Amino acid sequence: MTQYIPDTQRPIGLFDSGEGGLTVARAVADLLPHENLIYACDTAHFPYGPRPLAEVRAFFRRFMEFFVEQNCKLVIVACNTATAAAIDLLLADAFPIPALGVVQPGAAMAAEASATGRIGVAATQGTCDSGIYPQTIRLFRPDAYVVQQACPILVIRAEEGVISGPEVRREVERCLAPILAERVDTLVLGCTHFPHMAKVIQDVVGPAVRLVDPGKATAVQVADLLRRRGLLNPGPGPGQRRAFTTGDPQRFLEVACRLWPGGVDAAAHIHLWSQQE
Ligand code: DGL
Repeated sequence: MTQYIPDTQRPIGLFDSGEGGLTVARAVADLLPHENLIYACDTAHFPYGPRPLAEVRAFFRRFMEFFVEQNCKLVIVACNTATAAAIDLLLADAFPIPALGVVQPGAAMAAEASATGRIGVAATQGTCDSGIYPQTIRLFRPDAYVVQQACPILVIRAEEGVISGPEVRREVERCLAPILAERVDTLVLGCTHFPHMAKVIQDVVGPAVRLVDPGKATAVQVADLLRRRGLLNPGPGPGQRRAFTTGDPQRFLEVACRLWPGGVDAAAHIHLWSQQE
């Protein structure tokens, strides 16, 4: 017999390829500490950045079924690449539960934050190729000049839990040089892995460049949406934060604990495909 739980206590689902979406989970937990979170990631198919968007879209759809099975009240696509791959489905409200991506809140925040309209976007190859950031930023600010750069090595480092030190700093410098050469005043961390290394990135770009973390902007939208629908969890206790991965849960938890100490309560393996592609 399934146990009845009030809608407010149903969990929020968050989805990413790996450890990146934890930056979004953290932003949500900071803002909404009573919410129960289910973090699900597709480590078996990591990284998403170099994959065709059609493939990422299919993976995401399978995860949406999982979130529905888990009785989630809302899903956050805590992955820019998956948001780019499924943006039409998200905008069309094509799922049985509400789902929102990180790109629109991030683009809106960047458009507002920039004084000069010169905006950089550091992301995955898939996100850059989709053009979703330039297009969405220009919806909010038609005169914006947007320059993009794929930074796959930073995704790999963050997934390993390596987010500081001279080697990472050199890699950040190398990755961001083309963007900085364009004299941007705002930089969108357009991959959810990157806010894990925000300190190093801010140090490299200098205080004159404003960093935009779409995860934080998304958390604000989530709070707003839940409030409007009467779905906010009133507590009193802290929410449960469970993780599921298509890879090795021990390994996931080990890195997660380094990236977000005390952030995840437990991790388990999920098997979502009869044959792992
Ligand atoms: N963290 C994801 C994103 O925001 C995906 C990174 C990857 O798997 O390449 O795009």
